[in-house]
Amino acid sequence: MVVTMHPECPAIMLALLGCLTSVLLGFPFGPVPELDVVPRTTVLFNGLWESNHFSGSTVNYSTLLLEDGTATLYVGAREALYALDAANISVIHNNSYIDWAASAEQKKQCLNKGGVGQTECYNYIRFLDRYNETHLYTCGTHAFRPRCAYIDVERFSFVRFEEGKERCPYYSAKGFTGLIVDGEMYSASQYEFRSSPDIRRNFPFPNLKTEETPTRWLQEADFVGSALLRESINSSIGDDDKIYFFFTERNPEQKSYSRQTRLARVARVCKGDIGGQRTLQRKWTSFLKARLVCSIPEYELQFNILRSVHVLEVPSVQDTIFFTVFGLEWNSAKTSAICQYALKDVQTAFDGPYMELQDSKWREYTGKLPDLRPGLCINDQHRAQLINSSRDLPDNVLTFVRRHPLMAREIQPVGGRPLLFKKNVNYTRIAVHKVTAVDGNVYNMLFIGTDDGWMHKAVELGDRVHIIEELQLFRESQPINNMIISQKQKSIYASADTGVVQVPLSFCGRYVSCYDCVFARDPLCGWDGRLCVEVYSYPNRSRLTQDIQMGNRGCENITADGLVSHRTRSVIVGHDVLLLCEIHSNLAVPHWTLNGEQLQGYAVKSVYRIGTDGLLIIGAQSRQSGHYSCYTVENGVWIPVCSYVVKVQPVPSFLSNLSSYPTALPESFFTTTALFISPTSSSDLNEQPLHSLPSSPDSHTNQHMEAVYIILVAVFGGLCLVLTVILLYVSFCAHSAHDGGKYSQDEFSVTPVTERKRSSHVELKTISSHCNGRTDIHYIAASTEGQFLQIIPGIDQVSPDKQPPPAPPLPNPPPMPSTEYANGLSTTLPSVLRKMNGNSYMLLTQADSDMTSPLYHSFTEELSRILEKRKHTQLDVEPDESSV
Ligand SMILES: *[C@@H]1O[C@H](CO)[C@@H](O)[C@H](O)[C@H]1NC(C)=O
Ligand SMILES: *[C@@H]1O[C@H](CO)[C@@H](O)[C@H](O)[C@H]1NC(C)=O
Ligand SMILES: *[C@@H]1O[C@H](CO)[C@@H](O)[C@H](O)[C@H]1NC(C)=O
Ligand SMILES: *[C@@H]1O[C@H](CO)[C@@H](O)[C@H](O)[C@H]1NC(C)=O
Ligand SMILES: *[C@@H]1O[C@H](CO)[C@@H](O)[C@H](O)[C@H]1NC(C)=O
Ligand SMILES: *[C@@H]1O[C@H](CO)[C@@H](O)[C@H](O)[C@H]1NC(C)=O
Repeated sequence: MVVTMHPECPAIMLALLGCLTSVLLGFPFGPVPELDVVPRTTVLFNGLWESNHFSGSTVNYSTLLLEDGTATLYVGAREALYALDAANISVIHNNSYIDWAASAEQKKQCLNKGGVGQTECYNYIRFLDRYNETHLYTCGTHAFRPRCAYIDVERFSFVRFEEGKERCPYYSAKGFTGLIVDGEMYSASQYEFRSSPDIRRNFPFPNLKTEETPTRWLQEADFVGSALLRESINSSIGDDDKIYFFFTERNPEQKSYSRQTRLARVARVCKGDIGGQRTLQRKWTSFLKARLVCSIPEYELQFNILRSVHVLEVPSVQDTIFFTVFGLEWNSAKTSAICQYALKDVQTAFDGPYMELQDSKWREYTGKLPDLRPGLCINDQHRAQLINSSRDLPDNVLTFVRRHPLMAREIQPVGGRPLLFKKNVNYTRIAVHKVTAVDGNVYNMLFIGTDDGWMHKAVELGDRVHIIEELQLFRESQPINNMIISQKQKSIYASADTGVVQVPLSFCGRYVSCYDCVFARDPLCGWDGRLCVEVYSYPNRSRLTQDIQMGNRGCENITADGLVSHRTRSVIVGHDVLLLCEIHSNLAVPHWTLNGEQLQGYAVKSVYRIGTDGLLIIGAQSRQSGHYSCYTVENGVWIPVCSYVVKVQPVPSFLSNLSSYPTALPESFFTTTALFISPTSSSDLNEQPLHSLPSSPDSHTNQHMEAVYIILVAVFGGLCLVLTVILLYVSFCAHSAHDGGKYSQDEFSVTPVTERKRSSHVELKTISSHCNGRTDIHYIAASTEGQFLQIIPGIDQVSPDKQPPPAPPLPNPPPMPSTEYANGLSTTLPSVLRKMNGNSYMLLTQADSDMTSPLYHSFTEELSRILEKRKHTQLDVEPDESSV
């Protein structure tokens, strides 16, 4: 048999082989869909310079009204209204406060009402908007009897009160939205507990509301936002101007297999609507609603709870974009998504087919439509048919409207999927701002508040989002409940229960080098050759270096050498040493070289751990002496950060064998293994070995006994350590007031997982390694500041001049914990006590195994997240150099 080979065969085979290899090689490193975006930098509350805070004598700051013209920020809180200087909200002017407490009588009545919580018996300001040139209009819950009032802006005082029923909800936290346009007030809420949710025009007369029979237009709706869009084209009277309402409501299709009991919706009404004549009298004739979809189809992940909406104002109304924050229905899963919707897509849905309720099921309506399309605003076409207002609409149109409030088409987000998906975070609010960057492109900047007092600042890059930084706006963990951007003040204002904070839209001075400035990809920041500066205040934009698209170009010719630090470290053979290399960016990956060669691969794994804090050399051997350099690699650019000369010293002769103990053994040799947990054990462990040292080295039996003691002590110490580590993960006591010695780089602490306390002085460090797309994280567990697990620093073997901090008093040992974590994961507990600089510690390892689901939430992740936020707070800025 003859096999002929086509001349092109080898080429094809080569190509195939190439493909195959690349597939095989590429497989473990293959692209994982970028599901979870990590903020590049973390700014803690204390690092939040240039921010201004305001908090009066009350709480629950939630209603914000910004008037850039007069540079005033009006704030509504519990029983109080404030007029703040938008330039600096910390500055208090005279006459800028209105006390609006519900009367004692009203509060008493409220308390007597059954079913009303005590917390509701205050006046929570829920609504505040401009009424006319001289007055504001505000509404409050007023201890369960809503009231509204006009405020004279000039004097900042009330002029007239009104009944607030059906304009303002009775409850402080009930979903509510409202706005005043052209002297007309629109509001949407489930005003009272028993009433149905309703979208209203409250004034002027005639008031309009939603229909309840035979079809309920709204089902337990929870409103989050509303906006007026002046959509009219070529109409002097604004025929087509509409108000949009955003909410979550009960899923009408309660199928047994349906996991979603609620759905996100957008509804709209025409501004010119005045209701029907007989049918739909005092009801909207233009009400329509449609579903907003926000899902990741690959993972069958459907976000259905709408939390916030921001309408991005653009020059042409038709290009309007709605930015929304979504969450999942199950509260246990802390996960958020940002979806954006184009007004055009919303309009398409409203121009599409209707749904109809047939046999208590919603189906697409396929029958004949009335000649005049139902649900439209009255415009010239209507007037040509002598229909001058909604009252003139024929009955068949109104009857149809009454029964068909829901559209069949669902509204997909721009790009068909969320713009941003974030695990472990509950976003609560969003505000968006358009910025023209140095490259001339316009970028959307997203400011997103979280439920724990943080704000993420991000930039939209095509179909994805880069989170520039996360800022801790409030020291206390609490939801950001409102955010507003001032273009004029270049500030963003965020409110929460305890106060209001004003932060500049950008703070470029935080970026210290050209690359730092460029990596940040902040459209508001550029490098001028010397500093990272605010683009808008720089006279010559074109001279600035900025790279929003790629985030890595423009700094090639700028040497960063000035930032590199050089240090020397010495370590005894067999001990571990940590070479610190701090990385400010959460997106940077550390890379290390030894004598110019990169440390990587499996061979290295057993002796090195590369982490976000530095390089850990495990059991140093003399061949590991040399010149180590740390680089951070971000966006493909290597940047040198620091370098170390490491000298691995031979074991001092007196330690070279145990059977020949010298009399004057360095104290630290014992203390390294002596880990104590409780006062009793501490004294035992700390002193016994030292004090019972044989006075005569010749005594053979004593020597033997000593060795046994040491081993026992070590074993016991290790055991205690293990138990304590378990304990630490499970329980966490208040931080001890004792702030003993300053901790050097080699003393670590453990962060308990069950409770996150950002301000606490405890920390855990990770040393992680990336391999085949999987992340193994190794925890170094060690001392908290004098609490559970104390490592006696002793007289440091390798740095004898270092003063040991006094061993702090220890609390009684907490009760025995179980090894189960809240999320059911357990960690491999360590068996080996390791030594570093005269201290002992252990390495804990946990590997992420199943990371396929975007909802996969691991212990490791939670820890990594905590670390991200804490990273820069605890480390000694000037770690002391050790020498023999
Ligand atoms: C008001 O503030 C208090 C204290 O911060 C908080 O406990 C409460 O939940 C807040 N109420 C509302 C409605 O935000
Ligand atoms: C704002 O005002 C406060 C109080 O007067 C002042 O301490 C602070 O420095 C001001 N902030 C700025 C950014 O000017
Ligand atoms: C604004 O409204 C208030 C309250 O109704 C009224 O007293 C005042 O005259 C109005 N101002 C103007 C300029 O229309
Ligand atoms: C609508 O207005 C026109 C002109 O103003 C008038 O002639 C016509 O009768 C009105 N139609 C109705 C139904 O009121
Ligand atoms: C960097 O310097 C080289 C040579 O001096 C020059 O060709 C190049 O244009 C410079 N690059 C930048 C971004 O300035
Ligand atoms: C320990 O050291 C002593 C003297 O320093 C020596 O005589 C002895 O042989 C050593 N033992 C071992 C096991 O190396």
